[in-house]
Amino acid sequence: MLSKVSVISGKASEELARKLSRKLKANLVKSEVRVFADGESKITLKGTISKRKSVIVQSIYPPVDTNLVQALSLISKAKEKSSEVIAVIPYMGYARQDREFLPGEIITMRVLGKLFKGAGASKIIAVDIHSMIGLKHFNIITKNVTAIPDLVKYFKKLRLKSPLVVSPDQGGKDRARDFAKEFGTEYIALQKKRDRRTGKVQIKTKNVDEVVNRDLILVDDMISTGGSIIKATQFLKKQKCKRVFVACTHALLMNDAEKKIRKAGVSRIVSTNTIPGKTSIVDVSNTIAKAII
Ligand code: R5P
Repeated sequence: MLSKVSVISGKASEELARKLSRKLKANLVKSEVRVFADGESKITLKGTISKRKSVIVQSIYPPVDTNLVQALSLISKAKEKSSEVIAVIPYMGYARQDREFLPGEIITMRVLGKLFKGAGASKIIAVDIHSMIGLKHFNIITKNVTAIPDLVKYFKKLRLKSPLVVSPDQGGKDRARDFAKEFGTEYIALQKKRDRRTGKVQIKTKNVDEVVNRDLILVDDMISTGGSIIKATQFLKKQKCKRVFVACTHALLMNDAEKKIRKAGVSRIVSTNTIPGKTSIVDVSNTIAKAII
């Protein structure tokens, strides 16, 4: 008998969709994708979609626009069959484009809001979205769930020496606070400055005595070029901390970011399976399932 819920797996999130379908006791509908020479995606769904409820799972990591169009196509197809379509976008690409930082900049999150709604999504679920401001541009029900408890569970198993949680910037202060609270320790937030035109980052904090001889957990929502983590680690090492660990939800690790982060002195990078990869060892399917049930 067909389950009341179908989980439709996007190509970008196959493992997470499979795990989620098991947690929800839903039937899994896989997608087969052929990318034409010109870059177009040709998607074929393999399975029967529930009339009642579909949950599509597709992260929007590189190739960002391809994965976005695939997500929209899956939503649209699901809406032809199901009365309710929940779009789980574990990593929400474009979430950093939530404001007009410089005159003339387009708020792409506003565009995404229109696209998801137009395609037929009734609800959007994201994991540790860069900022809640992004979801305010959406005109449908949204929910952001956090992977912090899942990440903390992993870190509690490590033998850390008087651990301190550090945010590389003031924007991540609340995230560091929540992580530290769950972990049962203290936190600090550094001052980071990013040049809006070049994207280059600098750490503006002068001295932090709290870090001396302690193991640090640098907490961030995402790592892209690795610039923020590298600059923060170089600064913290100069302040005579012990080991530096990185906990992040979304590890994009573009180009040789991982190598550069390790070279800066990071002992371990731990991320979640919102983006598949070598460092993505923490599973968030349970956390997402709880938001759907
Ligand atoms: C910025 O505010 C974010 O929270 C991340 O710190 C940033 O997007 C990471 O990007 P990158 O790895 O390129 O520094």
